[in-house]
Amino acid sequence: MRYSRIMKESGMGRLPAGFRKLDLHGRREVIKSAFAFPDDEWAGISCAQHMLELLDVMVECAVGCTPLPLGIAQGFLIDDKEVLIPMAVEEPSVITAASYAAHLVREDGGFQTWASEPLMVVQVFLESVTQNGEKALANCGPELRQALDGSLISLTQRGGGYRSFRVERLPSGTVRVDLVIDVRDALGANRLNTAGESVRPLLERASGGRSLMAILTDAASQRLAGARFSIPIERLAHGLPAGMSCREAARRITAASVIAQEDASRAVTHNKGIMNGISSLALATMNDTRAVEAAAHLWAARDGQYRGLSRYSVDGTSLRGEIELPLALASAGGSIEFHPAARASMRILGSPNAQRLSRIGAALGLAQNFAAVLALVTFGIQKGHMKYHAARVAYTAGARGSEVRRLAERLSTTGSLDVLSARRALKDMRGQQSP
Ligand code: MEV
Repeated sequence: MRYSRIMKESGMGRLPAGFRKLDLHGRREVIKSAFAFPDDEWAGISCAQHMLELLDVMVECAVGCTPLPLGIAQGFLIDDKEVLIPMAVEEPSVITAASYAAHLVREDGGFQTWASEPLMVVQVFLESVTQNGEKALANCGPELRQALDGSLISLTQRGGGYRSFRVERLPSGTVRVDLVIDVRDALGANRLNTAGESVRPLLERASGGRSLMAILTDAASQRLAGARFSIPIERLAHGLPAGMSCREAARRITAASVIAQEDASRAVTHNKGIMNGISSLALATMNDTRAVEAAAHLWAARDGQYRGLSRYSVDGTSLRGEIELPLALASAGGSIEFHPAARASMRILGSPNAQRLSRIGAALGLAQNFAAVLALVTFGIQKGHMKYHAARVAYTAGARGSEVRRLAERLSTTGSLDVLSARRALKDMRGQQSP
């Protein structure tokens, strides 16, 4: 109660002094009493003690967990290998949609994918560099290699390490030095940033300038992954509205793809659909979703106009889909090896290396997008969504276990998707069941 008074006085927006220094138990006690959570909400941010302790090591000021659904997309054939894809996502329909597209594509060889070497870039920004200083920088390759080969020795031993550098002067006059490093299976954020910081004195000496900052770029524009598929347009046959031919459906898909190339406000939603897949995989494997998203959107605007990341075309009797984007998905290090849920996802995926994981991500993004666009240009997406919405309404109305599915079906049939009607229908359903 003490804390709830403090919170009330500070407009619920401030925690008591010293909150940060309390242990996990203390912090949980503070927020529990301050917010008077109903039981379901408190349970919603709680999990087993050993998991709470692990989360407390991962971030500061931890007070609980946010359990997201983890589902598995099935039916994927990627480079002739079957793969199950774990997806952590709060949105209904996403997993089913990905699986649906995977099944459509698998009959004709599935997805063919590619990924470049896992090259990342750390950038050192230098101020007050003269023209001569800039020229001198261009000659410091051997020195840089010697310094970075030394500091990246464990990476070099695993086949990665320092690759090259380039120098660019920005419009503000600041000089940017890009150091290209092969990070192998890691995201490598710590290693990259440490490498960048370690060569600041060297670059200052060589250029005569002063370093402002050193940090990796999430652009990952040299760490690309792509996927493509090709199916006979007849493959679309079994899911079309009456009267719509396969050819017309395929034409509509390509028309939607052209719109995503020419209209940024449509492209952003088109790409959001792609990221429904990729971010769910990134989250399930505890990769850095923010970095992956930021890179994808920068790539989408690389020629100055924001565009869709995928394209579709009809070639004779085949429909083709293709995607390419930066995908810095790591398979080792960071939270990926630390968090048991991420390890479980990696196990489901068949323990891929980083390049394979990025290829899987590209195929998943394309599948997700294909399913969305196909739905949009045929029945619309609401039909699929409403089924899941009905399940949520049924749950909110009090249905549990097998009742949820039965009540949801009933609600979908009647079209009454409000909680009040659902409660009435549930009562009725239970009444019919009792002897
Ligand atoms: C919804 O999460 C994703 C879609 O809006 C994607 C799209 O419009 O292409 C269906």
